Amino acid sequence: MCGIFAYLSYFTETNRRQILDTLIKGIARMEYRGYDSAGLAITGDSDSDTLVYKQVGKVSALREVVDKEATNLDKTYTVQTSMAHTRWATHGQPSTVNSHPHRSDLNSEFTVVHNGIITNFKEIRTLLEKKGYRFETETDTETVVKLIKYVYDSQRGKLSFVDLVKAVCKELEGAFAFAFKSNHFPGQMVAARRGSPLLIGIKTAEKLGVDYLDVEVANEIEDDAPANEEKVPSYAKRAQSQTFTTSDGKSQAVEYFLASDPSAIIEHTKKVLYLEDDDIAHFSEAGNLHIHRLRRDDGMSSIRSIKTLELELAEIMKGSFPHFMLKEIYEQPDSVVNTIRGRVDFNEHRVILGGLRNYLSSIRRCRRIVFIACGTSYHSCIATRAIFEELTEIPVSIDIASDFLDRKSPIFRDDVCIFVSQSGETADTILCMRYCLERGALCVGVTNTVGSTISRETHCGVHINAGPEIGVASTKAYTSQFLALVMMALQLSEDRISMIKRRQDIIDGLRELPELIKRVLELDSSLEQLAENVLHKEKSLLILSRGFQNATCLEGALKIKELSYMHSEGILAGELKHGPLALIDENMPAIIIMTKDSHYPKVMSALQQVTARKGRPIVICNEGDDRVPDIEHVIRVPGTVDCLMGILTIIPLQLLSYHLAVKNGVDVDFPRNLAKSVTVE
Ligand code: F6R
Repeated sequence: MCGIFAYLSYFTETNRRQILDTLIKGIARMEYRGYDSAGLAITGDSDSDTLVYKQVGKVSALREVVDKEATNLDKTYTVQTSMAHTRWATHGQPSTVNSHPHRSDLNSEFTVVHNGIITNFKEIRTLLEKKGYRFETETDTETVVKLIKYVYDSQRGKLSFVDLVKAVCKELEGAFAFAFKSNHFPGQMVAARRGSPLLIGIKTAEKLGVDYLDVEVANEIEDDAPANEEKVPSYAKRAQSQTFTTSDGKSQAVEYFLASDPSAIIEHTKKVLYLEDDDIAHFSEAGNLHIHRLRRDDGMSSIRSIKTLELELAEIMKGSFPHFMLKEIYEQPDSVVNTIRGRVDFNEHRVILGGLRNYLSSIRRCRRIVFIACGTSYHSCIATRAIFEELTEIPVSIDIASDFLDRKSPIFRDDVCIFVSQSGETADTILCMRYCLERGALCVGVTNTVGSTISRETHCGVHINAGPEIGVASTKAYTSQFLALVMMALQLSEDRISMIKRRQDIIDGLRELPELIKRVLELDSSLEQLAENVLHKEKSLLILSRGFQNATCLEGALKIKELSYMHSEGILAGELKHGPLALIDENMPAIIIMTKDSHYPKVMSALQQVTARKGRPIVICNEGDDRVPDIEHVIRVPGTVDCLMGILTIIPLQLLSYHLAVKNGVDVDFPRNLAKSVTVE
């Protein structure tokens, strides 16, 4: 939710045109994180004022404003610190005034961009209002930028920029990633995170040497001085700087790119540093980068390695596809190969997930496995629970992260908790992970994002390797999560003699999968016709099945809802007669998934119940299935082993939801009110 981006350049000539372009491209790459409004602010060393542009709507709307209004584009700067933001509204409706960057006052003494939610902002706002501060927006973020000005004024400018940000962060509850700048500290920027992701790309004129691969966290000395007035900070004194600089003390040309997501950085540099919770990064006017901790001795490692991104620019471009979503659906023959590659020995029928190697015996010994996830990732857990239990004989429970938190479910040291998340940054899932870590459970991450919070904070895990997923509706990540979980179950069960045959069949099934997916994709034009001729004007659509296909129903219905804005519901066929059958009449379309597995006869009976009530069934079944009655709409997919069939049956529903979205005029990659990465509770 929200993408923040900052571009800083030191001792290298940059002009306004380049800066605007870099900022706009940066937030455009993260637009999937939120697209209600966008804004930017530029301050260069030869400017007395900060240049600010904001616009409601997508980043393209901001670009239009900038193209029309920005002047003096050739003006150059030797040092500049600029920031931008793409917003997913939480507090305050999408409007120009509520767009970031936010300022502390009319002179923009302090300016901030923020991703996250400050849960105690009302209390702070009330306090500041009593002190005479007037607010111009409804946002939580404005409270933060006013608070920093308040601290600055009440200390009469005696605190460093870092100490000001620390003082503010100590007062905040909730989640945040910030970038602050201030005209009191020209050429500087301070960034901080807690709960929301933030990373820094570093590009130096000389190649980054090995000397710069580690960052030492400044060793802070806390001051015990009492808080100033009623509330606000307990100040820290200046850091005793054991600090990192990108130059050897001299001024070296350096550019920094601060972003919520690596996709905004990759075209500039592959060298990145991920900030940890409660890290405060300071960019000095000399172009040096120092990392400080909010509190000392909190047990956090003092090393921040500079990592090399493995992402390629082409992977985050649409290519010839009209939408990222369609590109990502079509990538599935390759993305599943990438999930499997190097991990399956097809001759020996073995699966080796390196990330779990040292934890296999602990997992096998556990009392139960608890899957925790949200949305589509949750559906991948439902899809694989049965095979997990069958192969491992370990009881598996599945929780939606937000519900798990609401219940404060009991977790024990002999539990294994598996957190499935494409982004690795979903706030609810992260909170569950920390809850389970605190209770001593073994925590396993299954994510698509190297360096994400979940992949860093879990004990071990599996990277699904699906490649960047940009479309807000998850597609290829689902099939790769599904596969990664099946592979995990295969690895865990390799010592079970009784499962040899079953495991071999599944592993043979994995080998065939990419070719079978290609055949399912050939159904695209018939699904487009189904969307056009039968479904796109409907108000509601049911999707029914059971067993291995239950998850396909839920996931298919979610795709249709979020993309076509049509009501859709996935229903367990066994539940039909307990209520939902009342919905069936001659107007209600119902997709029924009846693939050849042990549940087939029961799903056939559901089909008969629907036809008996004059419902309008659309059947998804296997090629060559001659038991399906003569009905008008039948979608035939190739067959594979039962527990992998869900990978082949979801693809027609992904394509169908895509075409429904296009027919309904929906902005496919940016469905209304949603964001790709839900980093707030
Ligand atoms: C739906 C969708 C969401 C996400 C959910 C969890 O298409 O993408 O339901 O699956 O927000 O996100 P991650 O997997 O990043 O934790």
